[in-house]
Amino acid sequence: MNILVTGANRGIGLEIVRQYLEESDAHRVFAGCRNPEKASTLQACKAEYGDRLELVTLDVGYSDSIDLAAAEVAEQVVQLDILINNAAVMTQDDLSSIDPEIYLETYKVNTVGPLLVSMAFLPLLEKAETGTARIIMISSRAGSIQFSKEVGLIYPSYGASKAGLNMASIHLMNTIKDKGIGVYIMTPGWVRTDMGGSNADLSVEESVGGMMQIWKDLDLSKNGAFFDHQGNLVDW
Ligand SMILES: NC(=O)c1ccc[n+]([C@@H]2O[C@H](COP(=O)([O-])OP(=O)(O)OC[C@H]3O[C@@H](n4cnc5c(N)ncnc54)[C@H](OP(=O)(O)O)[C@@H]3O)[C@@H](O)[C@H]2O)c1
Repeated sequence: MNILVTGANRGIGLEIVRQYLEESDAHRVFAGCRNPEKASTLQACKAEYGDRLELVTLDVGYSDSIDLAAAEVAEQVVQLDILINNAAVMTQDDLSSIDPEIYLETYKVNTVGPLLVSMAFLPLLEKAETGTARIIMISSRAGSIQFSKEVGLIYPSYGASKAGLNMASIHLMNTIKDKGIGVYIMTPGWVRTDMGGSNADLSVEESVGGMMQIWKDLDLSKNGAFFDHQGNLVDW
């Protein structure tokens, strides 16, 4: 399979790259990152895995960067089987001081970026065997309105951006369902990364291992579902 992961420099994205490279010699992984020249862990992986891993310059906040990345990948493969929209930002804000710039930047990267990336890579996804290509949106329980009503502890700019991503994902699903490409929304759990912090419940290995197990069983009957890393459906 050919797989592209955004935000692959560290955290969950990097672990997705690692686990796919380990899973099968037949996988070719494109690791999207903002600065490949500074991505030392990905470069070390490249030294180990050679042509099975390509580092692709990809800033999901900029259409030009997205289009260049799609063209670069299209020069190397004829089809893409899995696109994982993982890149995101989070600011620890609250409603005592609302900074519109933080909202707009968070929305640009977390909500609009995944849509632009999905549309740019659509021609390659369409070349996969009908009904097998999939787009994975790494969202968050923070994007669940029900969860936020019950728990209410997540940063509002981030939560709003992920709720927006969930809605945008369903619009994407409706737009491309006739092409046989599924769109699936995931929450990885609370994971020990720079974003999740050191007190989080899960290691990246546990979270990514769980999600990848679920991705193996996806088919279009589950199109548009919102899952956690154990395969449970999450309330919108
Ligand atoms: N960790 C958790 O507990 C948790 C919980 C729920 C959901 N999530 C979601 O899981 C995903 C991964 O989170 P994480 O914990 O691995 O976060 P992380 O450790 O902060 O890593 C975020 C990654 O996104 C990249 N990124 C940020 N802005 C970007 C942009 N404009 N273009 C391209 N890449 C960009 C970063 O690149 P640089 O290295 O260049 O900065 C980094 O590689 C995110 O979608 C997050 O919302 C995480």
